Amino acid sequence: MRVGVPTEIKPAEYRVAITPAGVREMVEHGHEVLVEAGAGEGSAISDAAFEAQGARIVPGAEALFAEAEMVIKVKEPQPVEVEMLRPGQLLFTYLHLAPDPELTRGLCGSGATCVAYETVEDARGRLPLLAPMSEIAGKIATQAGAFMLEKPLGGRGILLGGVPGVAAANVMVIGGGVVGMNAAFIAIGMEADVFVFDKSIDRLRELEVAFAGRCSTVYSTTLAVEEMLPRADLVIGAVLVHGARAPFVIRREQLALMKPGAVLVDVAIDQGGCFETSRPTTHRDPTFEVDGIIHYCVANMPGAVPITSTHALTNATLPYAIALADEGVAEAIRRNPGLRPGVNVAAGAVTHPAVAEAVGMPSVKVEQALKPSADGPIRQGHLDVSARRPPEHAEAE
Ligand SMILES: NC(=O)c1ccc[n+]([C@@H]2O[C@H](COP(=O)([O-])OP(=O)(O)OC[C@H]3O[C@@H](n4cnc5c(N)ncnc54)[C@H](O)[C@@H]3O)[C@@H](O)[C@H]2O)c1
Repeated sequence: MRVGVPTEIKPAEYRVAITPAGVREMVEHGHEVLVEAGAGEGSAISDAAFEAQGARIVPGAEALFAEAEMVIKVKEPQPVEVEMLRPGQLLFTYLHLAPDPELTRGLCGSGATCVAYETVEDARGRLPLLAPMSEIAGKIATQAGAFMLEKPLGGRGILLGGVPGVAAANVMVIGGGVVGMNAAFIAIGMEADVFVFDKSIDRLRELEVAFAGRCSTVYSTTLAVEEMLPRADLVIGAVLVHGARAPFVIRREQLALMKPGAVLVDVAIDQGGCFETSRPTTHRDPTFEVDGIIHYCVANMPGAVPITSTHALTNATLPYAIALADEGVAEAIRRNPGLRPGVNVAAGAVTHPAVAEAVGMPSVKVEQALKPSADGPIRQGHLDVSARRPPEHAEAE
């Protein structure tokens, strides 16, 4: 398959969807890899490093999208990229469609088959392609929150860890999954008093064991949240209901319970945000204030540390990208059931039920959408790569 990796164009996004190691693996599997010139620069990877492993450098996104059968990206396609997608093309990237009906409609209109990193599951129903970015976002959430609590940045002016004789700050983490656990881990390391809220008692049990009593765990209810808000200096929102829009865990009127200058970090902003007053921000302008409370709502937090994120992300995505390139989407989801929920849009239809519900569109079964037509190997949203695979691959099966 011809695999294309464009330069990310979302503001302040410096990650790239493949590393030289990934190019090498793809090439060894018989695929051709096109990388847009300069795509790796933000992650300190030169064009020459990609070329040395067999990639072909393509001057611009237009040429790359036109040639590639599968496009691998990091962030959701921007409007100009949606326009370049075409029927039969495969897109593999973060999509976060639940809060974005417009993008969902755009992808349906493109006819491309769109596989979202964030809804691919492993055998235990966890999210293996979200986890590495969640680990990073969780760690950044506490770092950023600690920074924003400084007075010159609009915060209350409290040091997370306190000093001898002066109490530490209270950090409240709502959602104790991968983001929440990593946020709590750093907050504990910075010697704050940490409280992790979750609705899953099993998860709270796991956290108790992992942190060996170094933070408090709280079963999350509206009352429990309201009782903690007046004490919290930093609140990190990290809830997730797979594929769905994030639920609101703090409403606007509840901000009045908080101390002026307290900081909210909404990591779940990429799923629509879990605070009612959140709206997406960028690394260039990360915060805004509502009712005296500082909001940090950067939708691509790991983009700030691209050298770490690019490698962490591609370590996780590469096996799935190779499976898609080797087998085509229909066969890859048959062989690897965890990839199936990754398919969010195919042949003009939404194929993930939670996404469909969130955007108010009907949901179609993936297999139904991908059914080959009588017109030949390629139809809208379906790429039958067996017809294009080099003979040695066809024979190996
Ligand atoms: N902004 C960014 O750059 C960025 C980066 C990575 C991940 N994220 C987002 O962070 C969020 C969390 O991701 P994750 O990997 O930690 O997910 P996860 O599934 O590992 O954890 C989510 C946790 O939230 C809990 N939860 C669900 N509803 C809840 C509620 N109403 N109250 C309390 N807890 C609740 C679940 O039980 C679970 O433990 C997701 O929306 C993800 O997309 C954002």
